[in-house]
Amino acid sequence: MNDKKINVLILGGGGREHAIARSLRASEIFGAAGELHCAPGNPGMEATLHAIDPCDAEAVLRISREHAIGLVVAGPEAPLVAGVGNRLRESGIPFFGPGASGAMLEGSKIFAKNFMQRHGVPTALFDVCETLDDCRAALAKRKPPYVIKADGLAAGKGVFLPDTEAEALAICDDLLNKKILGEAGSRLVIEDFMRGRELTVFAITDGTSYRLLAPSRDHKRAYDGDKGPNTGGMGAYAPVRIPDGFLDTVVRCVLEPTLAGLKKDGIDYRGVLYMGLMILPPDEGETEPYVSVVEYNVRFGDPETQVVLPLYAGDLGVAMLAAAEGRLREVPKCGNDGHALGVVLASGGYPGPFEKNFPIEGLDKELDAKIPGTSVFHSGTKRDASGRIVTAGGRVLTVVGTGATFNEARDRAYERVRAISFEHMHYRNDIGWSEEE
Ligand code: GLY
Repeated sequence: MNDKKINVLILGGGGREHAIARSLRASEIFGAAGELHCAPGNPGMEATLHAIDPCDAEAVLRISREHAIGLVVAGPEAPLVAGVGNRLRESGIPFFGPGASGAMLEGSKIFAKNFMQRHGVPTALFDVCETLDDCRAALAKRKPPYVIKADGLAAGKGVFLPDTEAEALAICDDLLNKKILGEAGSRLVIEDFMRGRELTVFAITDGTSYRLLAPSRDHKRAYDGDKGPNTGGMGAYAPVRIPDGFLDTVVRCVLEPTLAGLKKDGIDYRGVLYMGLMILPPDEGETEPYVSVVEYNVRFGDPETQVVLPLYAGDLGVAMLAAAEGRLREVPKCGNDGHALGVVLASGGYPGPFEKNFPIEGLDKELDAKIPGTSVFHSGTKRDASGRIVTAGGRVLTVVGTGATFNEARDRAYERVRAISFEHMHYRNDIGWSEEE
């Protein structure tokens, strides 16, 4: 066990980073003396905020040195793909998150698909397309709905599921020739559609050992009934009811071959591995469901983090520091307790254009205490000139309820939601519906 009292810097400023900050605050790595810093952070965080670009490795290094930071935790993927972790590690500062080569698992869909193929990790059959003729050939092999993915980072806007070949070709043209996503769409993956149930599993890892967090599911569509446009995520819950033994299947078929593949490829992966999975029904004559990888991410998910971290029975700070220092085996394995459900409160119009700067009512800490087992995590908020907290983004808050059962967690979350308001607020009323079937 590590008995140093250290200062921590979290990169990022959304609900995920607020949830990480909340869990780290309770960590024994702080003791009485540790300081929590965030860059850029948000007004909900009880931390010192630094207005720097978290992708600027030199700025992150400067803040880390100025404040004697003993652990840097990356929230979003962009600083990882930009190699901030490499710069911090070579300067001797423990960093939770992979370096640029490991971040390619998220930074390039083509890299990730080839990696999975090379290392025997189950995933949908795919083609890499660089021209419209490549796309035509890849589409001709498949039936609708078609799955088209931009190769590069696209802030959640890079996956398309058109129902007709004509629509699919128009999307390919928009990406390859009209460059609607810039260079991120200059190469594409077209893959088989998988019909199953989605599941997210996070593993904290130092590349050898791992610690699993509760399996979660997010709801990406904007409106109830999984209708409307795709968003970054309108809510999430954990744990997800999964077939008996399925987590063991995930470990055996996905996590262990992925870690072995990273090692074989000479990639020192320390941080969290986000496994975006599909639970596929058993084949005819079989009894066991299958797992297939939809995507890897190299950071925690948002809003899944907000529901998964409150359930982790261990000390997040201890696990993160140990993973960053390559000694996760020293951290005791522990479970995940209870249930959590999170509802995202979004600006009217999101994920399309929306107005900002509306004052938010109902954030008083006393309300968190009055409705037990609830937390409010800030995503798109800021303080205005008079010090009020106002809306500043599409996803504004994630309201989380925890409880001994799914129903208790859900009821608490929605009770807390009803105490919050801002102009044009919208949210889904059916988060967790798939658990109730
Ligand atoms: N909630 C999906 C993601 O974080 O990528």
